[in-house]
Amino acid sequence: MRSVMNIAIFASGSGSNLQALIDATLSGQIKGRIACCVVDNPNAYAIKRAQMAGIDTLVLSPKMCTSRDEWEQCIVEYLQQHQVQLVVLAGFMRIIGERLLSHFAQRMINIHPSLLPNFPGRTGIQDAYESGVTITGVTVHYVDSGIDTGPIIAQQSLEIDPSWTLDTLETHIHEIEHRLYPQVIATLVNHGESIVNTAR
Ligand code: GRF
Repeated sequence: MRSVMNIAIFASGSGSNLQALIDATLSGQIKGRIACCVVDNPNAYAIKRAQMAGIDTLVLSPKMCTSRDEWEQCIVEYLQQHQVQLVVLAGFMRIIGERLLSHFAQRMINIHPSLLPNFPGRTGIQDAYESGVTITGVTVHYVDSGIDTGPIIAQQSLEIDPSWTLDTLETHIHEIEHRLYPQVIATLVNHGESIVNTAR
């Protein structure tokens, strides 16, 4: 029998995607275990969500460390302690460096609120809205050293109604995220063979 996969979720803000993933593990949609969370922002509401779910959480910003490399090394060691096999970025607002990437190559994924390669970066929803495109959406992709450039795993598109404000669009994008991310992770965790190794 295959053992349950240990997942780590990284977040920086409100953690609504973290919540969707917590709910999806509790309901059994994702047959894995959220072994721990990593949060880089001590004020993030995501910390509360993790605590309420009883998930061990590392709160560590690069500022708390002597170097960026030391910050990544602390995170790598924390993930190894928790025997993490899959890293899920859920609104984590930092670029992932070589040290973390080399330990989790092909085992780190991200969600982005646009149809990549269009509108990468921090303000994907707003950039799409202001550009006047009529279709945008959500992308789940593997993480590489670029900004939202890794191989795409899944996308869902959304037609922008001309009557929508930016807020309306944001609401629809988040609804898609909260459905799509659990679905994709369930597929990777429940059936995936390519991401079953433990942290090196
Ligand atoms: C999401 O829109 C995600 O795609 C983006 O940042 C937002 C995080 O929201 N990278 P939350 O913290 O999960 O509520």
